[in-house]
Amino acid sequence: MGSVEPPTQQSYPPFPDTGSLKGFKSIPLTPIIGTEFKDVDITEWLRAPNSDDILRDLSLVIAQRGVVFFRNQHKVDDVSQKEFCRRINELSGAPKENGFYKHSLLAMHGADPEMGKVDPDRLKAMYLKPDNGMPRQTHLKEWHTDSSFEPAPPTFTVLRMAVLPETGGDTLWASGYELYDRLSAPYKAFYESLTATHYSEGLHSYAKANPDKMFSGPRGAASNVGLEYKSHHPAVRTHPLTGWKSLFAWGANCLAYDNVTDEESAQLMDKISRLVLDNQDLQVRFHWENTGDLAIWDNRCTFHSATSDHFVVGPRMGWRCMTMGEKPFLDPNSKSRNEATGGWPYKLENPSRH
Ligand SMILES: [Fe+2]
Repeated sequence: MGSVEPPTQQSYPPFPDTGSLKGFKSIPLTPIIGTEFKDVDITEWLRAPNSDDILRDLSLVIAQRGVVFFRNQHKVDDVSQKEFCRRINELSGAPKENGFYKHSLLAMHGADPEMGKVDPDRLKAMYLKPDNGMPRQTHLKEWHTDSSFEPAPPTFTVLRMAVLPETGGDTLWASGYELYDRLSAPYKAFYESLTATHYSEGLHSYAKANPDKMFSGPRGAASNVGLEYKSHHPAVRTHPLTGWKSLFAWGANCLAYDNVTDEESAQLMDKISRLVLDNQDLQVRFHWENTGDLAIWDNRCTFHSATSDHFVVGPRMGWRCMTMGEKPFLDPNSKSRNEATGGWPYKLENPSRH
């Protein structure tokens, strides 16, 4: 199995902000996470004379704010959605040979295996066992960062909604930067000393039983091959664009902390669960109002979870593509966001209220 070497960076961000987004209206949805751009047609950004500057500057906003929203992107189709995601990834310095993730389940491969269909009814039929008739009391396991079991996990995910239920079906994101900053200094140091195993038990066991129904790769990066779906990553990683430390070892794709007992791992995991669930202010919740609403998020510094309430009121379907990035790394000289910025108001280059 190949591996992608982490980039060696002496400064963050690795490129200057050109200010190309200053004329566009954007709203920070919370102090900590999430920004919405208003009155933007991203297909115009793709064709603008300074398109590369816009997309490169946007990559910094996404990296800083975790997730960025654009409503009513009715002109965006599969081709332009992929171009948007690919160029942001390339312009922001992702390994040049990397591309789009291809889902392991061949059944998920439609006409374009790089464009995934986010369709809970289909996923439910594929993954979920029948319940036992009791009320479901937790959706904690819905939280995850995409495909973190890959050796070179995703950078950006773009999700464009195509079918919406009458109500429900919201998506929540939580900030990995803030999870790290909410820890005390001794806890910060301890979590930084750890690695964790990321693993998809579901994909692995399905692959063992149905190897002919699985795509063994490469899944968007030379290292992402095979049918094991297991990787070890630093528990705290440095984001290569912001230089900020982000808590990474958590969520449904994170199996356990390494070199500690099962009980200790469960306690370490539960500590982060409590931080997410007890601190609404490190989350942002987005209601998909219209088909064509689009989100792009950075999997290196966020976790996300859909609500499951739409099952009772109607279908929900979206188109997703995601690009692959560097092997996660921890730069011991990097800073937390609060250390680097002094806290809110963060010294953002771009977002501004108009
Ligand atoms: Fe996801």
